[in-house]
Amino acid sequence: MTVESVRPAAPQAAELSTPPLAGGGVPGLGHGLKLVRDPLGFLARLRDQGDVVRLRLGPKTVYAVTTPALTGALALNPDFKIDGPLWESLEGLLGKEGVATANGPRHRRQRRTIQPAFRLDIIPEYGPIMEEEAHALAERMGSGETVDCTSESFRVAVRIAARCLLRGDFMDERAERLSVALATVFRGMYRRMVIPAGPLYRLPLPANRKFDRALADLHLLVDEIVAERRASGQKPDDLLTALLEAKDENGDPIGEQEIHDQVVAILTPGSETVASTIMWLLQVLTEHPEHADRVREEVESVAGDRPVAFADVRKLSHTNNVVVEAMRLRPAVWILTRRAVTETELGGYRIPAGADIVYSPYAIQRDPRSYDGSLEFDPDRWLPERAKDVPKFAMSPFSVGNRKCPSDHFSMAQLSLITAAVASRWRLEQVSDSDDTTRVGITLRPHRLLLRAVAR
Ligand code: HEM
Repeated sequence: MTVESVRPAAPQAAELSTPPLAGGGVPGLGHGLKLVRDPLGFLARLRDQGDVVRLRLGPKTVYAVTTPALTGALALNPDFKIDGPLWESLEGLLGKEGVATANGPRHRRQRRTIQPAFRLDIIPEYGPIMEEEAHALAERMGSGETVDCTSESFRVAVRIAARCLLRGDFMDERAERLSVALATVFRGMYRRMVIPAGPLYRLPLPANRKFDRALADLHLLVDEIVAERRASGQKPDDLLTALLEAKDENGDPIGEQEIHDQVVAILTPGSETVASTIMWLLQVLTEHPEHADRVREEVESVAGDRPVAFADVRKLSHTNNVVVEAMRLRPAVWILTRRAVTETELGGYRIPAGADIVYSPYAIQRDPRSYDGSLEFDPDRWLPERAKDVPKFAMSPFSVGNRKCPSDHFSMAQLSLITAAVASRWRLEQVSDSDDTTRVGITLRPHRLLLRAVAR
């Protein structure tokens, strides 16, 4: 008798139990109201009710995963793909053929095309642009005027992504237009997702017209960027060239629509996420001057009197820990969804084919089961001797698996550099009508962070 023949067979998904239904649902509406009114608090409390729980959103059942280990299992399991209402509404506005929403062979091919632009050994080539943009931001902050952190953060995020990845002199003026268009589009997109009142958004109201104009300008800008690069006849070694030269599964050039959607699919996640994180970093430097001082001292110890440089970043361990800790408490991407391709299992529960699964990096990264003093801002928890105690997948702001953000190194480098450049020059204070409470949108960011920079 072999060992295999006595081992009990793995349970079939059909024999597994159904996850418990979360409490507090309202007849007819289920948990929808709670999710609209207080999404962060609601998601953060779900783990008390189980590792996997069912939510009712009107007539629909959605499965919420609440433990770090299961979010990892979900992200790494090919039984789950990118799909569901969040992705459908993104596709409707931004295009269906980009890497962020594709699945299967097309997604794998697209990842192969874009990945080289984000390789760790390529990032230093972007160093001079990141330095220039980080110092330009610090310079603008010192104008004596109140700093509107929303527009400044968008500006620097879009300019870095556009100048590094789609490089060209023409980018400067376009990067400004892009940042204005993207900020408006993201605001409107979230409204359209949480209140899917289709016909209402077609009415000729000022807000709708502003949104339509911004969306049209975003698509027009991308067309202009592509057309101009083609007309120049130049092929610099960058992401845009990689996209223009990409071949499909049959070895044929990819279509115009896919090129367009790919540029949109890289610029849009690349700007809102970074911009939101920069806003939180500015807020953290304001709220925790002791850490701002430590960042400044660290920069001084590494760079002396000269301005901090890209090459210094890997030596700025406390600065880096400040960035990681800000991302833990305020992850730009606070909710993620997947759809089950087939009937499958998660945490010992049956998940039916076609089910939508949701999880919240915000809830996971603030869970007291994973972190001592989980709500305290404590960058030193990322010192190697303490970081080893953090459970696996309890800190994955860039996700894991085949959908992992391609830009983790690119993003961390610019975020640390910006933090260092700003903290080494200024002490920051909020002005009286600033509002740094959390605004829940496609990403999390402060409602309206307004700062004054004071010379150190
Ligand atoms: C995907 C986070 C910056 C491009 C993702 C995902 C996360 C994420 C969590 C995975 C989504 C999922 O699992 O469903 C972040 C954060 C950023 C950041 C926190 C900065 C603080 C960027 C930047 C770019 C970028 C700068 C490009 C310039 C993308 C793309 C995908 C993606 C193209 C889709 C990948 C795929 O589906 O294969 N990002 N991101 N991200 N991100 Fe980022």
